[in-house]
Amino acid sequence: MNGKSTTLSIAKRLKGKVAIITGGAGGFGEITAKLFVQHGAKVIIADVQDDKGVSLCNEIIATYKHGENDEEIISYVHCNISDETDMKNLVDLAISKHGKLDIMFNNAGIPGDINPTIVGASSDNFKKVFNINVYGGFLGAKHAARVMIPNKSGVILFTASVAALVAGESPHAYTMSKHAIIGLMKNLCVEMGQYGIRVNAISPCAVSTPLLSNALGMDKEGVDGLICESAVLKGVAPEALDVANAALFLASEEAKFVSGLNLVLDGGYSVTNPSFSMAVKKLFS
Ligand SMILES: NC(=O)c1ccc[n+]([C@@H]2O[C@H](COP(=O)([O-])OP(=O)(O)OC[C@H]3O[C@@H](n4cnc5c(N)ncnc54)[C@H](O)[C@@H]3O)[C@@H](O)[C@H]2O)c1
Repeated sequence: MNGKSTTLSIAKRLKGKVAIITGGAGGFGEITAKLFVQHGAKVIIADVQDDKGVSLCNEIIATYKHGENDEEIISYVHCNISDETDMKNLVDLAISKHGKLDIMFNNAGIPGDINPTIVGASSDNFKKVFNINVYGGFLGAKHAARVMIPNKSGVILFTASVAALVAGESPHAYTMSKHAIIGLMKNLCVEMGQYGIRVNAISPCAVSTPLLSNALGMDKEGVDGLICESAVLKGVAPEALDVANAALFLASEEAKFVSGLNLVLDGGYSVTNPSFSMAVKKLFS
């Protein structure tokens, strides 16, 4: 050692990129916004929680200054993703503010009513879940494609869910909405491929975020306990940063030939069905 201090700097994997993150004021979107900025991207957060969105921007500006035009590294826009005018304005803002849109992360979503029965399901809840989880993702993709196609480049990402793979654990409307998003992602992958635009999804298992804590009426500790107990991969609890890291990979040049992928982030949860072995264990315990 020569006694000189060493500065560790991370490679900026999204340097010069412009990203929109829907649902960016909380949960996965919040952590992804921080990670994208840390990696050199200019990020626009779109959400309906204005106070949280604005205070997150202030926190990010104070923490991850790029050094020049700091106010440009992150901004917040009120946007209801199921309103086409809001979505159009959001994408147009990326163009007027930054001149382009490289990454559209369609992440916002809601669980809807937790009532799992078909007979007890309400039509209003079904329409609300589809309006946000499916139509909102569709609108995000539509308006992103509108500005990405002329540039012949871009990345469109969706947050789906393990509910698109494992049945019987989430409410019907939510499960259907996440299957629909995977269908949209695959269809778009084909249409957008001709323009060099990549389209992928991330399907996390249960992760302790406000969405899940509120849905289950439990605090983070309680939710983590349930997740760890049911996990296939032991010794590690999934966190929002895992989703953010997956989004970072898919958005970066490291994934330049990855399109049409549903990146399942579940520690192997969806590859097995432990019901039979649990029944056997119970029999002999
Ligand atoms: N947390 C989990 O266990 C889990 C697992 C799998 C998939 N997901 C999915 O991940 C995504 C993010 O979930 P999260 O856990 O971070 O949830 P969250 O509730 O913590 O964050 C979601 C954000 O989306 C915003 N939002 C909701 N409706 C909106 C609308 N109409 N327009 C704009 N913004 C809106 C909310 O205000 C919130 O900030 C969702 O699509 C969800 O379905 C979550």
